Amino acid sequence: MEVIIKPTAGDASLIAAKLIARQIRHKPTSVLGLATGNTPLDTYRHLVKMHQGEGLDFSRVTTFNLDEYVGLAPDHPASYHSFMWEYLFKHVNIKPLQVNIPNGLAKNIPEHCREYEDKIRACGGIDIQLLGIGGDGHIGFNEPCSSLSSRTRIKTLTRRTIQDNSTFFDSAEQVPLHVLTMGIGTIMDSRSCVLLAFGTRKAEIVAKMVEGPISAMVPASALQWHEKTTVLIDEEASGKLTRKDYYQWVYQNKPAWQTAEIES
Ligand code: GLP
Repeated sequence: MEVIIKPTAGDASLIAAKLIARQIRHKPTSVLGLATGNTPLDTYRHLVKMHQGEGLDFSRVTTFNLDEYVGLAPDHPASYHSFMWEYLFKHVNIKPLQVNIPNGLAKNIPEHCREYEDKIRACGGIDIQLLGIGGDGHIGFNEPCSSLSSRTRIKTLTRRTIQDNSTFFDSAEQVPLHVLTMGIGTIMDSRSCVLLAFGTRKAEIVAKMVEGPISAMVPASALQWHEKTTVLIDEEASGKLTRKDYYQWVYQNKPAWQTAEIES
């Protein structure tokens, strides 16, 4: 796990966008794993700007989103389908057939989840997975106690996540109880992960994820076991890390070629 602390969420988001853009330029047929929530919004804005201003080409890119609410039609304003089209897909030249988001209206949910997994494998696996983190340590919608080797499946949200996500709905009562989410095992199979977390309200869970034990109680802590995860956070979210000085020291003293791989 590499921890990069930037002064602001904007600085960290720019780096996340550069890492994704670099991946696409290096391999135009890249498979991206994408996330929703407030956290990745700036990263998507940067990617849109890179497409419009620098010609970043999404035409051969395939995407897989982490999760979706069960029972919401794709055109529901709070669905993750709507979110992704609103903030990223409609602004870039991605082919709609290459966009994959779990279908919250699937009739046969176990079969749909198996097919989602099969499709990720058939596309060669995810090259870079973008992640946020829930206040309780969930990634995707893998709530505490999720199996660390879980695959795409249905999950039940915690009361806390329902409350946290209610800002995208008119009220907490409207947040669906059930969701479809890639599993932790699915996420762990990605060749690289970029996890973003911003603000003081994420500081405690970031410290548990990075410095606590690997535990199903903090699903994001599984990433300690991942071969190539970059945790990109702002100053505020770094407030509870005990080895903050060390992470900054490592970053400041990187060989120039390594810094270039991240910042250029
Ligand atoms: C939702 C999403 C997660 C996201 C989390 C954090 O639960 N399923 O993928 O990481 O919210 O959201 P935010 O970025 O708004 O804090």
